[in-house]
Amino acid sequence: MPREVQAFAPGRVNLIGEHTDYNGGLALPFAIAEGVTVSARATNERTSRAVSEESIRAHARDLAEDDEFALANPQHVAGWRAFVRGTAAELRATGAPIPAAELEIRGEVPRGAGLSSSAALEVALAVALLDLADAKLDRLALARLCSRVENDWVGARTGLLDQLASLFGEADTALCIDFSSLTIERVPLILRDGWRLVTVDSGERRQLAASGYNERRVECAYACELLGIGSLRELEGLDGGPSRALARLPARLARRARHVLHENERVLATVAALRAGDLPQVGRLLDASHTSLRDQYECSTPAVEAAVDRLRHSGAAGARMIGGGFGGHVLGLFAPDSRPPRGARAVHPSAGAHILRARA
Ligand code: GLA
Repeated sequence: MPREVQAFAPGRVNLIGEHTDYNGGLALPFAIAEGVTVSARATNERTSRAVSEESIRAHARDLAEDDEFALANPQHVAGWRAFVRGTAAELRATGAPIPAAELEIRGEVPRGAGLSSSAALEVALAVALLDLADAKLDRLALARLCSRVENDWVGARTGLLDQLASLFGEADTALCIDFSSLTIERVPLILRDGWRLVTVDSGERRQLAASGYNERRVECAYACELLGIGSLRELEGLDGGPSRALARLPARLARRARHVLHENERVLATVAALRAGDLPQVGRLLDASHTSLRDQYECSTPAVEAAVDRLRHSGAAGARMIGGGFGGHVLGLFAPDSRPPRGARAVHPSAGAHILRARA
């Protein structure tokens, strides 16, 4: 059993397909180079302490904060500690023999910024602790486990988008994820000849649990209930077509459902445009996605609009908010002849979660 491991998990950028994951829809994210690294060292408490007293000690280097909790019975808390406690508890619940350990966490993904710092943290913790325990879990099960941490320990009712992107990401690749079947199609995302994808910070931070995110989920669930369907993905196959179904919904719910319906279509159109090497068309689809998120899903804010405007004024071929909305980063696609605004950071499709180092 390795006594010391270091695991890395990336954040993600969602190229397109927003607020579709928890609606059984489609999305096209990629893992980015920035992420969270967890160094874990098994401590030998078993020799000196009773099993019931074994604990995990965690140090968040960027925040200069600590936590310590009993492995057998972690209590619920708020903030970053909820991720650590939740991940350890959920792993133990699968039967993995998580040992007493010391963890050090450091990250390069800004928190609450739409780049999925949360999933990077959960996934890096889970991969490190599993390795320390010499246990295995397939990556789909691991994504589900991390999502339970987010739902039940942190209180954000997020879907599986971020965890799957962090676990399955590959260099130069976007992942076309179908959330009805949980199948992943790898789509080459190679930016040639000076094309660039960049992110710009809107400067607005939010916690998913406290934003309008959970409320949007409730609205989508209610729309399904009114239409007698299991998920908004089923709109596509309804007798009489989706338009008739949308007309039966109250206006606000119809807007939410319309966004999801058309966003799924845009994901497929983006995959086709990427395969055809038609990046100007990808740009137009990013713009259309943003308009829909702003007007139909109503999850934009003045700060997000200002950031998107900055990208467009700099000549972006397309720009849109990413992640849950209500703040965070925005994404821009730039053609070779245009220059991203000051402060924009290039993002590159990169490898998914992996062990950096393990020592017995
Ligand atoms: C957040 C959630 C994801 C997904 C996006 C919106 O990033 O964590 O599950 O719902 O918002 O597409």
